[in-house]
Amino acid sequence: MRTINFGIIGCGLMGREFASASARWCHLTNAPARPVISAICDTNAGLFDWYKKNFDSITQFTGDYHELLKNPQIEAVYCALPHNLHKTVYCDIISAGKHLLGEKPFGIDKAANDAIVECCRRHSDVFVRCSSEFPFYPAVQRIGEMIETNAFGRIIEATSCFLHSSDLDVNKPINWKRMIEVNGEYGCMGDLGMHACHVPFRAGWVPQNVRAILCDIVPQRPDGKGGVAPCRTWDNATLLCQARDETGWEFPLTIKTHRIAPGQKDTWSLEILGTKASARFSTKNPRLLEVLEYTGGEQAWRQIDMGYESAFAAITGGIFEFGFTDAILQMWASFVSELVEGKPKSRFAGCVTPAESALSHRLFTAALASQKNASTETV
Ligand SMILES: NC(=O)c1ccc[n+]([C@@H]2O[C@H](COP(=O)([O-])OP(=O)(O)OC[C@H]3O[C@@H](n4cnc5c(N)ncnc54)[C@H](O)[C@@H]3O)[C@@H](O)[C@H]2O)c1
Repeated sequence: MRTINFGIIGCGLMGREFASASARWCHLTNAPARPVISAICDTNAGLFDWYKKNFDSITQFTGDYHELLKNPQIEAVYCALPHNLHKTVYCDIISAGKHLLGEKPFGIDKAANDAIVECCRRHSDVFVRCSSEFPFYPAVQRIGEMIETNAFGRIIEATSCFLHSSDLDVNKPINWKRMIEVNGEYGCMGDLGMHACHVPFRAGWVPQNVRAILCDIVPQRPDGKGGVAPCRTWDNATLLCQARDETGWEFPLTIKTHRIAPGQKDTWSLEILGTKASARFSTKNPRLLEVLEYTGGEQAWRQIDMGYESAFAAITGGIFEFGFTDAILQMWASFVSELVEGKPKSRFAGCVTPAESALSHRLFTAALASQKNASTETV
């Protein structure tokens, strides 16, 4: 099997998830190529021990990502850094001719995203995608098939949410994801928004305008050193959009990204209501897909137990559960497969494109203006 030598820049929470997925590649039965972690970079060298213990393949450990980019062995990079570094580092990776899976939000703000997208345009031979794993849940793949086959009829309304709850604890110390200088002015939209936008955007549902209500519920947090620090990032965002589908039909699309949603540890959910069919799914109950098909008779929701019906074939028996780390593995299978084969396996089994990231930045930037002016803003 063809191997692709990867470098990881940013070896924290998400860097380890990718490394672990690469070590579990034997789980996939039909992957066209295999990622090999050959180089890693982080300014915190303390993180290297775990990688050293688990990956014999790594021959370069560095605190300077420029060194990793000079390594001719490296074909592709996974970059999982704080948002204020996305523009410079992503542009340097792409300009060095390395394929890139970059983390969301793909630039701390619209100007940074514009620069990354422009860099992609100038290096069209480099394959670039943005990370978002939730659409790889089998139930969402099934919903994607329903969208592709126009099973919903006219869309009445769609709602896509990504909800967290741990910030309800006002004693939780601040970290970079709650600092405006590092995380960005988008706050929770930058952190959580790409996940909520991925399926609607891939469906071709383009927000035309937005009325956003953004909330800063906890304005200060412990600084972890005995004092308090201002917490100026938006905690919760509710975006009501008028979306237009590929036929020109317009309908309400609600995107919710909440850091303070009581009881929701890490819930991604999608509900689509249509004239012919409706469907809903939440990672809270990851095997349950609910579908209502309407043919003129009684209206009843069916509950379908989804098994391990993954986009990329795997050794797991079809009756077993699918979870977060499986979604990460499937996302990586999608990136590697599209890199090698030049096209996604199917419409909804593809990672976020730079153009889709640009649409998310237009939406979040309009949402900031909507909140500021209490207005409906064009996207
Ligand atoms: N796809 C997902 O589900 C998901 C989940 C969490 C975070 N993320 C995204 O992943 C990215 C990273 O988040 P994380 O949770 O892994 O953060 P993290 O803080 O755990 O890891 C970031 C790492 O970057 C390192 N770093 C900082 N500056 C550096 C530099 N100049 N050079 C090299 N390394 C440097 C830090 O030492 C740290 O280890 C963010 O863009 C975030 O939005 C995605």
